[in-house]
Amino acid sequence: MPILTRLEALRAGAAAQPITFDAVPTVPVPADPDPISAATLAEIVRRYRRHGFALAQFPSGPWTERTVERLAAGLGLGEPFVPPLYTRGGYASSAVSRIGAPADGAASTDQHPHFETTVGQELHCDGTLQEIGEVRSAILLCQSQGVDGGTTTLFNAHGAFTELLDADPEAARALTARGVLVRRATFNGSSETRETPAFTVHEGQLVCRYCVDATDRWAVPPGGDADAIGRGTEFLHRARQIGSRYVRRIDLVAGQALVMDNTRISHGRDAYRDGPGRRRCLLRSLHLHHPRHAGTDDDDR
Ligand SMILES: [Fe+2]
Repeated sequence: MPILTRLEALRAGAAAQPITFDAVPTVPVPADPDPISAATLAEIVRRYRRHGFALAQFPSGPWTERTVERLAAGLGLGEPFVPPLYTRGGYASSAVSRIGAPADGAASTDQHPHFETTVGQELHCDGTLQEIGEVRSAILLCQSQGVDGGTTTLFNAHGAFTELLDADPEAARALTARGVLVRRATFNGSSETRETPAFTVHEGQLVCRYCVDATDRWAVPPGGDADAIGRGTEFLHRARQIGSRYVRRIDLVAGQALVMDNTRISHGRDAYRDGPGRRRCLLRSLHLHHPRHAGTDDDDR
């Protein structure tokens, strides 16, 4: 087997499973409540592989943790993954997290504090302290909407990086150095950090971890090329602007589930506002596998 240079490996990895935001279906996959049909699951897997995400609409509520678990089971995602971070320091964490702000005056729950705010979140991948590519997929189910705001932004980091590989290969390669991305936990007083590449190749696939949220930062690791890193991050910054071919904006409505490839796209959300009887609540699970279905070809992409 020939030994590939780093750039050759990156190009081969990027070409192996490209995704595109072009021609994303405007209508969500209609999902039957119970059981979820084989045809529905196969269509979710097809869209996920082609676009890096799939949107499904459950027709009637209640939409609960059980809905997320049934969808995950149907897609072969296995048990939800709970990052060790979530249960440190006495915090409790269920397999499916509730993301929503407590009502004014209501006591906070013991969940992840980051889940209980109405502020916006810049683009990131889930699994802050996990290794790049470890959390492969995530499900976000909208249980209820707030008054306004909360639009979800999706960024095709895989596609943008592939373009960077052609435009400025040295800049692309610089972003594969370990330590170029530093992510920090903001949890029960913890300031633990994780230093990883922003992009890498794993098992022949390009794996992405483009994160620019408040607790993420770019760094120049020892031996790193600061100028090339700067060019690469600037290229991706331009590529992630609203209106770019690499960006999609989605307003999740109640009963909609977003299944995301956490290794190819990044996600974020706008700030939002709750009101009486209109509290935004999302249910989220993380998974160590990509979706698959009996009707599709391979077992894990
Ligand atoms: Fe997230």
